[in-house]
Amino acid sequence: MNEAVSIGAKFDAVPAVDLPPERLDERLIVGFDSYDNRSRPYNLLRTQLTKILDRTGDRLIGLTSATPAAGKTFTSVNLAAALSKMEGRKVVLCDFDLRRGSILKQFGVSVALALDDYLAGNEQDWTNLLFRVNNNNLFVLPTRTVLRDSSEAIGSERFVELVRQLRALPDDYMVLCDLPPVFANDDAMLCMRHLDAYVLVVDHGRTTGRQIEESTALLEPSRCLGTVLNRYQGGFGDDYGYGYGDTYGLKDYYADEN
Ligand SMILES: Nc1ncnc2c1ncn2[C@@H]1O[C@H](COP(=O)(O)OP(=O)(O)OP(=O)(O)O)[C@@H](O)[C@H]1O
Ligand SMILES: [Mg+2]
Repeated sequence: MNEAVSIGAKFDAVPAVDLPPERLDERLIVGFDSYDNRSRPYNLLRTQLTKILDRTGDRLIGLTSATPAAGKTFTSVNLAAALSKMEGRKVVLCDFDLRRGSILKQFGVSVALALDDYLAGNEQDWTNLLFRVNNNNLFVLPTRTVLRDSSEAIGSERFVELVRQLRALPDDYMVLCDLPPVFANDDAMLCMRHLDAYVLVVDHGRTTGRQIEESTALLEPSRCLGTVLNRYQGGFGDDYGYGYGDTYGLKDYYADEN
């Protein structure tokens, strides 16, 4: 059995966490439900991203921002959810914010072992740490505890082996990695050395042009695939109904579809 097939087989055995719609809604995880108006930006984003990835062949994508709390984790989770709903795609969402992992908090899920245990050598097989969200093609590799020596962990042989195996996944898999902010420490820069390209999350009204320029400069030679303007409330495609909430008549539009 080749490596891609054997890792793919392990994914078939990943346990599912049952998150009912109301629980996802409470946590503003809207990307799974294309009938929810709030998922529209993530659906647009997933299509733009996959168009680029189909052209470039990039597989391991980081999401980062200049400063903390820009919405990296929120965007990663919703984008991963939206991507996992695309025909023929499987998504692995990795929490590579090793100092302050927060994907578990975003999902409201607790686990016994996580990526930090693999990196510390307490767990030999990282695929044992994955959970699947409901019956979706979204597999989450969570980080649980605060890892103080995160820079060392990112440079470790175990991390390198993890990335190598992620790269060896079958072609229908893509890997999204939630990273720390660029300005916080060197973890995002170190992580990006192992990944193919990144998306920069820009916090509308807060992230400055200079911060964007400095972040991309610090991350060079890694390639920026584009930016995501998070928390934008303005008239994004108003004429087309790509707004938030129910004020744009999309509920009726979708209701007609079935
Ligand atoms: N577009 C949004 N709409 C509603 N809430 C949001 C949005 N973006 C982020 N949030 C909320 O803002 C808070 C900070 O977002 P998040 O944790 O995603 O930021 P982050 O960039 O990952 O932060 P950190 O740098 O600490 O990792 C969270 O409570 C998140 O749920
Ligand atoms: Mg985060």
